[in-house]
Amino acid sequence: MAAGSNISCVTVFGGSGFLGAEIVRRLSVDGLVTRVATRHPENTTFPERYIQAGGIQPVYADVRDETSVALAMEGCDSVINAVGLYIEKGSETFAAVHELGALNIAHQAAELDIDRLVHISGIGADLYSGSSYVGARGKGELLVRDAFSPATILRPSVLFGPSDKFLNTLAKITDYSPLFPLFGRGETMLQPVYVADVAEAALKVLRNPGSQGKTYELGGPRVYSYRALVELILSHTGRRRLLLPVPFTVWTSLATAASILPNPPVTRSQVALMKFDNVVAKSELSLDDLSVKPTAVEDILPHYEF
Ligand SMILES: NC(=O)c1ccc[n+]([C@@H]2O[C@H](COP(=O)([O-])OP(=O)(O)OC[C@H]3O[C@@H](n4cnc5c(N)ncnc54)[C@H](OP(=O)(O)O)[C@@H]3O)[C@@H](O)[C@H]2O)c1
Repeated sequence: MAAGSNISCVTVFGGSGFLGAEIVRRLSVDGLVTRVATRHPENTTFPERYIQAGGIQPVYADVRDETSVALAMEGCDSVINAVGLYIEKGSETFAAVHELGALNIAHQAAELDIDRLVHISGIGADLYSGSSYVGARGKGELLVRDAFSPATILRPSVLFGPSDKFLNTLAKITDYSPLFPLFGRGETMLQPVYVADVAEAALKVLRNPGSQGKTYELGGPRVYSYRALVELILSHTGRRRLLLPVPFTVWTSLATAASILPNPPVTRSQVALMKFDNVVAKSELSLDDLSVKPTAVEDILPHYEF
C-alpha cells in the first residue's frame, strides 16, 4: 500500500449528501477526479460541464453490497466514506450502513490496494452507547480500523452551512411557532463546524500521509449551548419566542411515536445525540493539526435564506 500524497482519483461514497457534495466540490477544485458513489447517481446536482469533462463521475453503489462498492472504487487510489443514515427504514438499518457498509468499504479498500481511506464518523461515536445510532457509529470505526488500519477517521461535531438541516430547522421552528421546545433545558454543549472546513480537512488528510491511522475531532471556533444557538437564530432573524424546556423522556416518547411517519420531525437518534455534549476533546487531534482555520457560525449566517 503506497503512502504517498500523489493521489489523482478519489471515490466519495455518499458524495451526493450534504457533506459528501462539499467534499466532491473541494476535491474537484483541487484538480482531482472524483467519483460520486451513491444509490441514485442520476440525482446528483453537480454542474454538467464537470461531469462532461470527466472530473466528476457519478457512479452507482450501495455500501451494503460489496460488489458495487468494489466497482465504484476500482481504478481510484483514494476513498472517502461520507455515507449518512439518520432514520432506519426496513433493511436500511444503522448496523447495515454504519457497520456493514463501513466494513465493506474498508475491506475492499484493502483488497484493491487503495492508498488512502478517510472514514467520516462523528464526535461521541461509542460502541457501548445505549443508542443504536451512536453505537453503530462506534462499531463502524472499529471495523474500519481492523480492516484497513491506515484509515484516517474524521469525527465532526454538528455540521452547518447554508443548506444544512440543523440551523435551517431551528429557523423553521422559530418561523411557525411562538414557542420553541428545547431538548431538556437546552444546556447540551455543541461546537458546530462549517461543512466547507470539514471538506478542507478531508482534502488535507488525503494530501498528508502523516495523517494515516489517526483520528481527528472537528469542531468550530466556538462552543455554544443548544439554547444559545437558538437565541443566536432568534437574534439573527429578529424574532422573539418563548424557549420551553422539554424533558428528554418526553422527547424520546415523541420520537418513538413519530417513528411510524415517513419523515418524522424528530428521531430517536437525534434525541440520543442531544443528550450529551458534542465538543472536541482536548486530548484529540483537531482542525488545528490539519492547519484548517475554523469558520464561525456568525460569519456564515448572513448566507442563509431565513
Ligand atoms: N450532518 C451533520 O451534522 C453531521 C455531523 C457529524 C457527522 N456527520 C457524518 O457525516 C456523514 C455525512 O452526513 P450528511 O449529513 O452529509 O448525510 P446526508 O446529507 O444524509 O447524505 C447521505 C449520503 O449517503 C448516501 N447513502 C445513504 N445510504 C447509502 C447506501 N446504502 N449506499 C450508498 N450511499 C448511501 C446518500 O445518497 P443516496 O441516498 O443516493 O444513496 C447521500 O449521498 C455521515 O457519516 C454523518 O454521520 C454528519
